[in-house]
Amino acid sequence: MSAAGKRVSHESARAHVTGAALYTDDLCGRFPRLLHAWPVTAPHAHALITELDVSPALDVPGVVATLTASDVPGENDTGANRRDEPLFPAEVMYHSQPVAWVLGEDLDAAQRGAARVRADYQPLPAIVTLRDAVARESFHSGPIRLQRGDANEALAASPHSLEGELEIGGQEHFYLETHAAIAWLDESGGVALHSSTQHPSETQEVVARVLGVPRNAVTVECLRMGGAFGGKEVQANPWAAVAALGARKTGRPVRVRLTRALDMALSGKRHPFLARYRVGFDDDGRLLSLLATLYSDAGWSLDLSEPVMGRALFHLDNAYFLPAMRAAGYVSKTHKTSQTAFRGFGAPQGMLLVEEILDRVARRLALAPEVVRERNFYREGQTTHYGQAVKDAGRIPAIWRRLLESSRFAARRAEIDRFNRTHPHRKRGLAITPVKFGISFTATVFNQGGALVLVYRDGSVQVNHGGTEMGQGLFTKIGQIAADALGLPLNAIRLMPTRTDKVPNTSASAASASTDLNGAAVMDACARIRERLAPVAAVMLGCAPEAVCFAGGFVSVKGDDLGRIPFGHVTEAAYRQRIPLFAEGYYRTPEIHFDARLGHGHPFYYFAFGAAATEVEVDGFTGQYKVRRADVLEDVGDSLSPLIDRGQIEGGFVQGLGWLTLEELLWDGEGRVATAGASTYKLPSWSELPEEFHVDFLERATEPGVVMGSKAVGEPPLMLAISAREALRDAIAAYGPGGEIPLASPLTPERVFRAIEDQRAKLCTFASPPTRVVRA
Ligand code: MTE
Ligand code: HPA
Ligand code: MOS
Repeated sequence: MSAAGKRVSHESARAHVTGAALYTDDLCGRFPRLLHAWPVTAPHAHALITELDVSPALDVPGVVATLTASDVPGENDTGANRRDEPLFPAEVMYHSQPVAWVLGEDLDAAQRGAARVRADYQPLPAIVTLRDAVARESFHSGPIRLQRGDANEALAASPHSLEGELEIGGQEHFYLETHAAIAWLDESGGVALHSSTQHPSETQEVVARVLGVPRNAVTVECLRMGGAFGGKEVQANPWAAVAALGARKTGRPVRVRLTRALDMALSGKRHPFLARYRVGFDDDGRLLSLLATLYSDAGWSLDLSEPVMGRALFHLDNAYFLPAMRAAGYVSKTHKTSQTAFRGFGAPQGMLLVEEILDRVARRLALAPEVVRERNFYREGQTTHYGQAVKDAGRIPAIWRRLLESSRFAARRAEIDRFNRTHPHRKRGLAITPVKFGISFTATVFNQGGALVLVYRDGSVQVNHGGTEMGQGLFTKIGQIAADALGLPLNAIRLMPTRTDKVPNTSASAASASTDLNGAAVMDACARIRERLAPVAAVMLGCAPEAVCFAGGFVSVKGDDLGRIPFGHVTEAAYRQRIPLFAEGYYRTPEIHFDARLGHGHPFYYFAFGAAATEVEVDGFTGQYKVRRADVLEDVGDSLSPLIDRGQIEGGFVQGLGWLTLEELLWDGEGRVATAGASTYKLPSWSELPEEFHVDFLERATEPGVVMGSKAVGEPPLMLAISAREALRDAIAAYGPGGEIPLASPLTPERVFRAIEDQRAKLCTFASPPTRVVRA
């Protein structure tokens, strides 16, 4: 009868598909006299504002007010981690940066008003490429370093070595719901907001900062988001601040909603990376030393770029033991949108590098990549390059072997080789790659969660917690947890919108940890309520409080269902005995610590493991490809919600596939996002899904110490898509003689085609027989 582990649909699934589910901007209709905001955007990537005259906007019929720096009663800054984000800048730092806002009776008036604002600029030299930033040493901070042993010495002593460079593209979040906020004044003079934010407490903090009021004067609510993917971890804040400022100035409710084009031009993306590396290895392909320098393109402000780089460095090992390594990460400053959190949070870039390296090592030695990968796996008892023991390291080879078997890897390998021998213009490729992803915010302080559970006299329940719902199924899982903890059916639990006046000082819903943190806090609150109800029920049942059992909406004596009492009768009795029926809950992750100075510690509570085997087919005339089949085996612990977990795995894989193979962000020479719409930015859709998609969970994988034995699932599966990139490389190799094939990312059809051409050219030049790959 337990709700946890049951295959329940997303709690809003029906509302999602019928359109009944409301998002921030859908709430506009509730606000009479609502004003609409539109920005005045700068036409330069870098410039001084020499003159700004907003008064002509006020001549436009329907324009009610303008917003500039002089309207800010508090601090003119919305930076989350450094005060480096003026809301109204004196110096333009990226193309299309808002320099002022116009409020109108309708959007059209605001837009026409914004067009009338007179702004003059003195253009300044702009850095719009990562390579340019690196060459000029334009860095926000750093470098951040991690090392183990003497990597130089280990490299010198290695029988083989390689060096190279890897370029990794960014990614647009493309949440279906663009950034949105509505702000209004409440009767106390405070400001209330609906905001599409992953971090209501930080949105509250930033709004309070800009308004110059204490945080208790600001209330932020997030009903749900239409996707966030990290893009709303800190970047919801400026839009909320504009709405709040407008409400404060006019006394009227104000709505900010970015159009898709604005959202793509103004909001941050996944960080593009450039990596330079040297690696030493032995005859068997075992890595002996890795030296790496990572550069991220962070854009104009710091944002979360330091922890993103930190997570990239933490994941340079992926699932592999690096006996000696030294890495430095530089967070580069460019005149572009401020790149931000995106599913995986730097780990995808770090892992991509080691997977690129292992493939080169394998091809250099004419070994099968899957053989070299397996040889490098962590073994039980080994520690990472930052000193954390890899608990359950044995799960990596266990998942690997099971997946090789269930995907019929060896047999398909042989079939593919046969296919490729008989098809000169079409080649298939197959690859398997692992994922090991650290769960916990790397900044230890964020690893806490809170809850407030309210039970009404009739036994119905409202659950408040610090997490936000962005489609990932957090509320579904929390509902299941609360139902089990109180012994109630799922439909007795109501999940309330996330509000800063219910649970304060919350962390962002991020790092895949929301269920671990908030779910445990809800468990804690429910346990308190059970403890208070047990003595009441014990008297009613004539048993000891310890013998009281809550299940299925009833309270009974353990092992005896006959005399059971409806839960609502017990709560009513408790009320009459003046026993409180609501409780707060709290959780902090134990054991984690990290010394940033030494680069050493135990930053992750546990690791999420998985692997994927993916097969592709590539057309030699065009470089176009399709994913024929993907097999995934993911360690989700004891799945709390199998349908939700499966959705996260499938969605994460496909989003990773988009990042690695289709989605290419381009900026023009002026620093403008050239791919600011779905017409120029290719997203994965129905037709790009794997034709066959097998998703399985690792069995008997209970994770002790985590809520109901489950494991986080939000981000790790994204990196399973690296198997598709490696499969493409495998197919490309089949067009030529073999050998190393370094590839930039994303591997768009265009790049695939060029890589095939390179392979064909090699065949002509050397006319050598193809390298025979040893698969042992
Ligand atoms: N799934 C959906 N449908 N929409 C999202 O915005 N965000 C991802 C992931 N899965 C996201 C998603 C990201 S970046 C994170 S960190 C986690 O969900 C956050 O939620 P969790 O902590 O509940 O896993
Ligand atoms: N992951 C995701 N978001 C974060 C982190 C992290 O490690 N640290 C701060 N925000
Ligand atoms: Mo996810 S990138 O941690 O919001």
